[in-house]
Amino acid sequence: MTALPAVRSTWRDWLLRRVASRSFQVWAAGVPGLRWIARSEGAALFDLTAGFVNSQVLVALVELRVLHLLQDGPSSVRHLAGLCAVPVERMQVILQAGAGLGLLKRQGDDRFGLSLRGASMLGVPGLEAMIRHHRALYADLADPVAFLRGGQETQLARFWPYVFGAAGAVDPAVVGTYSELMAESQILVAEDTLRLVDLSRVRRLLDVGGGTGAFLAAVGAAYPGLSLGLFDLPAVMEKAGERLARAGLTDRVTLHPGSFRDAPLPPGADVISLIRVLFDHDDSTVTHLLSKALVALPPGGRVIVSEPMSGGARPERSTDVYFAIYTMAMQTGRTRPAVEIAGLLRRAGFENITQAKGYRPFVTSVVWAERPNMPAQSRLGV
Ligand SMILES: C[S@@+](CC[C@H](N)C(=O)[O-])C[C@H]1O[C@@H](n2cnc3c(N)ncnc32)[C@H](O)[C@@H]1O
Repeated sequence: MTALPAVRSTWRDWLLRRVASRSFQVWAAGVPGLRWIARSEGAALFDLTAGFVNSQVLVALVELRVLHLLQDGPSSVRHLAGLCAVPVERMQVILQAGAGLGLLKRQGDDRFGLSLRGASMLGVPGLEAMIRHHRALYADLADPVAFLRGGQETQLARFWPYVFGAAGAVDPAVVGTYSELMAESQILVAEDTLRLVDLSRVRRLLDVGGGTGAFLAAVGAAYPGLSLGLFDLPAVMEKAGERLARAGLTDRVTLHPGSFRDAPLPPGADVISLIRVLFDHDDSTVTHLLSKALVALPPGGRVIVSEPMSGGARPERSTDVYFAIYTMAMQTGRTRPAVEIAGLLRRAGFENITQAKGYRPFVTSVVWAERPNMPAQSRLGV
């Protein structure tokens, strides 16, 4: 029994050595059956190699608002070139590239329109804002090896000033920028979270790190009887009032300005949600925060963690590439697998931990857990 994995690995090592040799590749490209594999692996490698150009074409299309300009119907290259202040022959190239990426459709020699994918991009909340925001991440990754070795200042850490501690996030203009970006994409996160958790028996929900209240707006609409609380940094709270008023939630939401680094979480909620909060922080901050959530909850109360999670033992393209690198660029963050989040919850004293892989893992996945009936003090000594 124990010999089998060794034999398998020897065979696999032999195969990998063969596949890495040019002569094998040339041979495989001529063998029916293997030819198809060789071709699709080649295309996949080319796609990885060219990925950064693809995303920069996307940035150009978004910044020039090309998709919006085509929303009412196809247009000529010359007309678009004039609107975008780009030379006609260069406009032809970027439009052709957009068609190559499947976002645009060529309509004759000098006209382009939207493809289905291009049209659907316009309906995804927050996507264009995210693409624009990627200029900062792109700059941080300009020298990826230096980035990995660490020690360099990153634009993303400056964009999310609370990574330097709560005192970093006091400028309302700066927190306004990140709050707006979060609020736009929150629509999808809230949709997927509310698909996975049932709040029908909940009396009061406290959203910790809830930004300007976009998640609470979705919860409030889905559960009209629920009373709501919002906890975030004071500078963020200043912006929350307006959004909550627009959502007609002013009377249902209690605002709790504060920092979870140095204040207790307010008691009284039977569910505490942490939406896209843990992945911003290192393990010690997260452990501290979860311990505070445990203390604030009544026995049987629940904590809900919702954020993009690593695939762990089964690495996943969107979360283990994009989110893992993004959170690394923030400097204090980490994209954790659900099993690791469950471990942090268990260590903080939670039990009955449930994981639910997201319907769209690049949007969110969810882990929730219960405070046991035993008093928190006797378990934690807090
Ligand atoms: C990535 S954003 C997520 C916002 C929102 N939950 C969402 O998903 O759109 C993280 C939030 O945590 C808040 N936050 C960061 N550090 C905090 C602290 N020490 N105390 C309270 N809130 C904090 C930030 O202000 C921000 O609103």
